[in-house]
Amino acid sequence: MAIPRYSSGDVSPAPLARDLEFPVSGRIAKNRFLKSPMAEFLATWSPRHVYERGIPTDEIIELYRRWGEGKNNWGVIVTGNIDTNWAILNAPGDTIITPDCLFEGERFEKFTKLAAAAKADGSLIVGQITHPGRQILASVSPTTVSASDVQLEPKDGQTYAKPHAATRAEMKKIVDEFAYAAEYLEKVGFDGIELHAAHGYLIAQFLSRTTNKRTDEYGVQTTENRMRFFSDVVRGIKARVSPKFIVSAKLNSVEFQEGGVTPDEAREVCETLEKLGLDFVELSGGTYEDLGLKFERESTQIREGFFLKFAQAISQALGPDRKMKLYLTGGMRSVGSMVSALDSVDGIGLARPAAAEPRLASDIVEGRASGALKPLTAGEEFPVSLMAAGAQIWQIARGKEPFQLWDEKVLAHLEQDIKTWLGEKAEDGDKLEHTKPPMYTGPQNEYGSSEAVVA
Ligand SMILES: Cc1cc2nc3c(=O)[nH]c(=O)nc-3n(C[C@H](O)[C@H](O)[C@H](O)COP(=O)(O)O)c2cc1C
Repeated sequence: MAIPRYSSGDVSPAPLARDLEFPVSGRIAKNRFLKSPMAEFLATWSPRHVYERGIPTDEIIELYRRWGEGKNNWGVIVTGNIDTNWAILNAPGDTIITPDCLFEGERFEKFTKLAAAAKADGSLIVGQITHPGRQILASVSPTTVSASDVQLEPKDGQTYAKPHAATRAEMKKIVDEFAYAAEYLEKVGFDGIELHAAHGYLIAQFLSRTTNKRTDEYGVQTTENRMRFFSDVVRGIKARVSPKFIVSAKLNSVEFQEGGVTPDEAREVCETLEKLGLDFVELSGGTYEDLGLKFERESTQIREGFFLKFAQAISQALGPDRKMKLYLTGGMRSVGSMVSALDSVDGIGLARPAAAEPRLASDIVEGRASGALKPLTAGEEFPVSLMAAGAQIWQIARGKEPFQLWDEKVLAHLEQDIKTWLGEKAEDGDKLEHTKPPMYTGPQNEYGSSEAVVA
């Protein structure tokens, strides 16, 4: 049977194979692909002993070894969320770096191994550092900080922490936590950091009018004000890392659309980031409330087009002298659409396709794949595709080839596994002992035992 893959005709992948020099750090990505951040949920975890949380496990190191493998694989590999506080977490099972973490010991050694594994064949490894702000389950922390006290509405039986407006002292502490995490990552051998300023996390909460109701100089009155906390974080980081260290950010198209930020303001945000010395911005869509995939029932082309329009507006607004590089992430699937996106942006971010196929960048650059694998419709939509990617990531981390969602039997098996997993999660309740992704229990092969799936 022919393996279903996205394709847009006979388009040469050559533009995707070109290297990319970052303007500030001078680092060079070996091609135009960026493995987008995906939370791994595989770090150490203890519900009670916070210092035992967030250490990269051997499974995580194995996962990054696979993404790092191959001379034409991912130019840039961005990790999943790295939390910067012991308690205010994106999710249990994330890796964590706080100012309590010393530049020695088990955590330091494991992060060092992770970096070395990812870089073995010349990829750049970039750690995504995060503060979730209001976007944290009440079971993980009942209280939190945000730009203002706008609580996230309960959803799917989950309730979220009650936020208060961050005080100046709290904001300064968070800036220090971000900066320390960046310094730590440089010391363990990472090439850079990506600030999570998308998907409704804390920095995005300051940027968006829906969550920022402040009236002080961090408030809603001007873009400059809403940017101020973001700028403080970037400056705090830049003060602690070397000039060769990449500082980048992930930004969100939805915040710009629905938070009422005009294209002019979006341009202002990006201009400020360029002035602050960011090497690149990864542009994506979605918040927790709406993972940006309200377009999920429309064709991939329409989705690709939606994010592309946003990227085009930003790139045009920044003008021909733009130095800061732009990556576009979200629904990019065929080589043709990736290559045409390079008219507006410099690189392409892929998340779910990189969980399904850790070698996908190599397969495209070397001309073996016309795009990502095409799952059955039910396997492509949220939330199944999100949980599937989590399960595939765990397979790779355990030394297995990931299952493929174009196969009906596999999908049926996965759906059963997801049901079991959701049941276990519900039983776990607030105990927070159940932190791993769904485990796929169907037939599977050892990693590398079968040919990489290309067709
Ligand atoms: C399992 C999973 C975990 C994710 N974790 C993160 C994360 O830690 N940080 C982040 O910025 N985005 C995260 N995302 C979003 C992706 O980086 C990406 O923006 C989104 O999946 C759209 O890209 P895609 O269509 O290529 O999958 C995650 C996505 C998936 C599927």
